[in-house]
Amino acid sequence: MAGLDGLLGRYLTDAWKPGGATYEVRGPMSDAEAFNVANCGEAEAREAIDVSWNAFQSWRETTAFERAELLRRWHDLILEHRDLIAATMTREMGKPIKEARGEVNYAASFVRWYEGEATRAYGETFPTAMPHKRGLALRTPVGPVYGVTPWNFPAAMVTRKAAPALAAGCTFVLKPAEQTPLTALLLADLWREAGGPEGTLQVLPALDPVPVTKPMMEDARIRKVTFTGSTEVGRILYRQSAETIKKISLELGGHAPFIIFDDADLEFAVRETIACKFRNAGQTCVCTNRIYVHEDVADAFTEKYVEAASGLVMGDPNDEATDVGPLVDAAGLAKVEGHVQDAVAKGATVHVGGSSTGGLFFLPTVLTGVTPDMAMMQEETFGPVAPILTFRSDEEVIRLANDTPYGLAAYVYTADLARAWRMAEALDYGIVGVNDGVPAAAYAPFGGVKQSGLGREGGPWGLDEYLEVRYVSMAMPR
Ligand code: SIN
Repeated sequence: MAGLDGLLGRYLTDAWKPGGATYEVRGPMSDAEAFNVANCGEAEAREAIDVSWNAFQSWRETTAFERAELLRRWHDLILEHRDLIAATMTREMGKPIKEARGEVNYAASFVRWYEGEATRAYGETFPTAMPHKRGLALRTPVGPVYGVTPWNFPAAMVTRKAAPALAAGCTFVLKPAEQTPLTALLLADLWREAGGPEGTLQVLPALDPVPVTKPMMEDARIRKVTFTGSTEVGRILYRQSAETIKKISLELGGHAPFIIFDDADLEFAVRETIACKFRNAGQTCVCTNRIYVHEDVADAFTEKYVEAASGLVMGDPNDEATDVGPLVDAAGLAKVEGHVQDAVAKGATVHVGGSSTGGLFFLPTVLTGVTPDMAMMQEETFGPVAPILTFRSDEEVIRLANDTPYGLAAYVYTADLARAWRMAEALDYGIVGVNDGVPAAAYAPFGGVKQSGLGREGGPWGLDEYLEVRYVSMAMPR
């Protein structure tokens, strides 16, 4: 392995190449030294498309068993390098180190899952109307893929996309988030060390995504695009993919409701809402943005929740004791501050937190008296801010929860089985956690409805996104 130093200023196509231009990745801690990273543009993107197309011609011919074996080695190497990958993530985007180690395990679990799934890309045979014909549906790789991953899960979002693509027999060009290129470069280096053939997984770091993305979207050889990020950017990519009719998966924004009924175990609900809201400093697409508590238990819940939020340790993300680290950058902090100021100006009450403490740190914050006209009720805050609202009936909370253009994740806490079923069916979301505040897993379908996206990642559904169905009609000469 090249080690972190060996990756500085370089990008990966069929081999490691020195980037003509570079940019600095500083991370959110002001005292950290900057990394110099290759700044790719149009020329590197065109090179990567050629490499990806050429590599696809031989990669698609490998057996699923060969690809599974490579994925197994990649998985093992990722875990062997867990500390380095975790420390790199923490430095790049400020995730607390204990969470970063957990993310490396999560990232590896996608590789492990798709090692198995590669060998289960079953086709089908089906009856035909003609006695001399047989019908088959084969599953074939879609072709070269372009993936754009976010900074909030710098490792897991790479493997959640690249592992199923590689398992299916597709080649993959990755444009990692500008804040977190080194985690992606480390993962790609380990893929090569595992024996991954040249050009099957390429990484193009870039400060400005547009010069890399434009040729990818225009070139008909790129057959599939997969993106995790904002709804705004997803909409642009969806439009651009129409030109060459690319397959597309979009994992976009959310505005997750967390509903707590009066029959729920409150202590448990408090613990789960804390984990759901404050992991990754609230910078997770499936973090709750609005906590609806039944009015009969709202005061008891709020008291316990404020106490738990006050106990969270905010500080240097490299410290083992830290629960909440800094926000990723100044724009992220400004958005969180803006949402809290807007809510307070419109009458919300701050129970704990409510302000930044210098640098990019914003205190874990709990608010009540939140109303639908406040910015935090319309947009994702993407920070450690928990607004608590109340409701009276099942019908009312279903209406409030569904009254959003988003539909990624929703959560329901209740001891009533019938109510749990009714809510799971009535909530218009791709993911519903029933008494589960952290439902994402490599074996489960992750994705949204409405303006939260298209397609699913994880499980067998995640492999389907990289496969086409080919109908073979076989007739016997008569
Ligand atoms: C995301 O924020 O999109 C990923 C969350 C997860 O996988 O838990």
